[in-house]
Amino acid sequence: MKLRRQTTSPDGFIIIAAEYNHGYTAVLKNALDYVAHEWRDKAVGFVGYGSALGSRAIEQLRGVVVELQMAPIRYAVHMPFEVVMAGNKGTPESELFSAFDERAGGMLDQLIAWSKALKTLRMPTNAA
Ligand SMILES: Cc1cc2nc3c(=O)[nH]c(=O)nc-3n(C[C@H](O)[C@H](O)[C@H](O)COP(=O)(O)O)c2cc1C
Repeated sequence: MKLRRQTTSPDGFIIIAAEYNHGYTAVLKNALDYVAHEWRDKAVGFVGYGSALGSRAIEQLRGVVVELQMAPIRYAVHMPFEVVMAGNKGTPESELFSAFDERAGGMLDQLIAWSKALKTLRMPTNAA
């Protein structure tokens, strides 16, 4: 119930996903299944990480969120495993993530635009 309440009001989401064995994690799938109704008609962006930049996990997640009637935006941020490791070793965040600023900015711009647009769809008069 706690997860449900915390996720009711935002207009859009960013899912941060690790990749294991060419896929997203089971715990993430479980969480998405759980909030399926609350997240309907909302926009979602992705940040993926792993030795293959989390790209396969994100591609698989795009199909899942479409089935949940969410709108996945095109831009995503893909981080190599080395960035995660450097973070664990104490490299400052400003240094770690500066290379992703432009990409993340593009993702956020799209996410905000889609989040605003989808509000209209969620108005009571338009709800299916
Ligand atoms: C068993 C195992 C399988 C992995 N498989 C992949 C993979 O298929 N693709 C990938 O990009 N990274 C893979 N990785 C690297 C993980 O994504 C990486 O360790 C990441 O930091 C895990 O995130 P977490 O520590 O937040 O769980 C794998 C790691 C392990 C231990």
